[in-house]
Amino acid sequence: MPDAVRPLIAGNWKMNGLRETGQALAQTIAKRRPGQACDLLLCPPATLLEMVGAALTGSGVLLGAQDCHQEIKGAHTGDVSAAMLADVGCRFVILGHSERRGEGHGETDADVAAKVQTAHGEGLVAIVCVGERAAEHAQGATLTVIESQIKGSLPEGVTPENTVIAYEPVWAIGSGRTPISEEIEAAHKRIRANLGARFGTPEAFRILYGGSVTAANAPEILSIHGVNGALVGGASLDAEAFCKIAESCG
Ligand code: 13P
Repeated sequence: MPDAVRPLIAGNWKMNGLRETGQALAQTIAKRRPGQACDLLLCPPATLLEMVGAALTGSGVLLGAQDCHQEIKGAHTGDVSAAMLADVGCRFVILGHSERRGEGHGETDADVAAKVQTAHGEGLVAIVCVGERAAEHAQGATLTVIESQIKGSLPEGVTPENTVIAYEPVWAIGSGRTPISEEIEAAHKRIRANLGARFGTPEAFRILYGGSVTAANAPEILSIHGVNGALVGGASLDAEAFCKIAESCG
């Protein structure tokens, strides 16, 4: 890993896992504690946060959630607040995932920025996702799109300690396709430049790549300059694959 910041390998379980399978997956990863050269994070569905948190106790593997509401509390049926996540032991929360933006849940950049601010207020580290759609990629608009998302999705007060960025091309998620290394490097470079211009200390930020990361492609992806870890979907549901990805960090 050529970069100075400690990499982060995060598993986004999405809407997968019941108590038995979720607990077993977390216990296996906690016991093996793979990849001593990286931080590890599991983001199970909200129903499993408490159980997975218990399974991870003492392992050093961190706990995170997949979303939160922008309000601290109130009449928001079905939603979960940042305070609730912190209360159950979360240190991180994924925000602005493409499955919550656009047609998924209609979240805009402004919605994401509001959530990030609330998450920071509760002491959570926000993992803010950005990434272009297939048509935008085909048009060569990747860097423009992610720059615009970065500008709109981050509130004031962002620091390398309270915010991680995940570059997740929408077309690469769950598709088995990934950008070429030069595209990933260029996207991370553009994100880092924007972070540096607005918040300072660009090299201190962790910028993850996400989208069809597997045990097979992780060594190459994690060696790309400016890639400080991975946000892993499907492969994070398989303990062996997730551990191998973490071990790619050394
Ligand atoms: P996959 O690894 O399944 O492509 O998912 C990536 C993702 O969306 C992680 O947040």
